[in-house]
Amino acid sequence: MEMLQDSFGRIHDYLRISVTDRCNLRCVYCMPAEGIAFQPHEEIMSYEEIAEVVSALAPIGLRKIRLTGGEPLVRKDLEQLIHMLSRIEGIEDISLTTNGIFLPKKAGLLKEAGLNRINISLDSLHKDRYAVITRGGDVSKVLEGITAAEEAGLEPIKLNVVLMKGSNDDEIQDFIAMTLNRPIHVRFIEYMPIGSATDSWRKSYLPLEAVMEVCKAAGWETEAASQLKGNGPSQNMRVKGAVGTFGLIHPVSDHFCDNCNRLRLTADGHIKSCLYWSEEFNIRKVTGKNDPDAIRSMFINSLGTKPKNHEMALALEKKEQSNTPTSRRMSQIGG
Ligand code: GTP
Ligand code: 5AD
Ligand code: SF4
Repeated sequence: MEMLQDSFGRIHDYLRISVTDRCNLRCVYCMPAEGIAFQPHEEIMSYEEIAEVVSALAPIGLRKIRLTGGEPLVRKDLEQLIHMLSRIEGIEDISLTTNGIFLPKKAGLLKEAGLNRINISLDSLHKDRYAVITRGGDVSKVLEGITAAEEAGLEPIKLNVVLMKGSNDDEIQDFIAMTLNRPIHVRFIEYMPIGSATDSWRKSYLPLEAVMEVCKAAGWETEAASQLKGNGPSQNMRVKGAVGTFGLIHPVSDHFCDNCNRLRLTADGHIKSCLYWSEEFNIRKVTGKNDPDAIRSMFINSLGTKPKNHEMALALEKKEQSNTPTSRRMSQIGG
C-alpha cells in the first residue's frame, strides 16, 4: 500500500485533528474581538467519522494523533473519542492541545480514556494580563489545570507561550523559572501571521533571540535537552540542573518545514497538508461509505499538493499583509 509520503520524500505519521472551531476564550492572536461565526453542528465531523479516518490511515503509517480546536474540551464527551482512537491498532500516541480551563474537571477522565499527554496554552502568569490576552480567561483555572494534569499522570506537560512584544515578553524569566523544580516543559512560540493577518501581528511579532538573552542576563547556563515525547518543531533546552526544559518554536524566523511530518484535519472535515496553504480536500465526500481506500487516496492526493515550505517570513517584508495563503483563522485550524 502507498504510504503517507509527499513529493519531497517526507514521511507523515502525525495527524492534527481539530474537533471543534468553538472556544471558550478569544485569544488576541487567534480570534477577532467580535469572535467568529461558528460552523453549524451538522458540518462538524462526528466521532465515528474521525475514527473511520484514523482507522483508514493507521495501516499506511499514521502513528500519532493530536486533538485540537478551537478548544477541544468544549466538545461534549471528548473522552469518548479518545477511547475510540486509543483502540485503533497502530496508533501509538494520542495528545491534546488545550487552553487548560476545563482540565481541573477533565484531566482524570482524559487519562483514563487513553490520552497520553497534553500541551497547554498559557501566555501570561499575571491574572489581569491573562484576562486581556484571552479576553476574559481566568488564569487560576489554568494553573489548577496544570496541577490536575500532573496528578493524572499526563506527561510530559508542555506549556505553549506565544511571545508578543510589549505584552508578555517581560515574563520569559518567570516562565523559565517554572521549569527549575517542576517537570514542566515551556515552549516559546513565534507569533504567526495566520488567518487574521492583522495589525496586531505586525506590532507584536518578536523573534525568539530574546529568550536566550534573558537566560544570559539571569546568569543561567543552558544546555541542549533531548527530544521530548512527540517530535514536533520545538528545539529544546534546559537550564543546567533544572527538572523541566524550555523550547523554542520559530516558524517565522527559521522554519522547520524540512522535517515536517504532519497533516491536519479541520473540524468540518477538510484535509490541510500544510498550516500555511490554502488547498484543502473535503474528506466527508468519502467517509460513511465503508471505503477506507478512498479515504487513503484523498490523503495521498493532498500530500501531492503539499508545498516544500511555507513562506510566512515574506509577511515580514510586506507592508500590506492581508492575503495569507489560508483564509481560515487559527481557531479553525487548531495550530
Ligand atoms: P508535540 O511536539 O507533539 O508535543 O506537538 P506540537 O508542539 O507540534 O503541538 P502544539 O499544538 O503544542 O503546537 C505548538 C505550536 O507549534 C503552535 O503554535 C502550533 O501552531 C505550532 N506548530 C505545530 N506544528 C506546526 C507546523 O507544522 N508548522 C508551523 N508553522 N507551526 C506548527
Ligand atoms: N501564532 C502562533 N501560535 C499560535 N497559536 C494560536 N494562534 C497562534 C499564532 N497566530 C497557538 C496557541 C496554541 C497552539 C495550538 O497554537 O497558543 O497553543
Ligand atoms: Fe481559544 Fe486556543 Fe484560539 Fe485561544 S488560541 S482563542 S484558547 S482556540
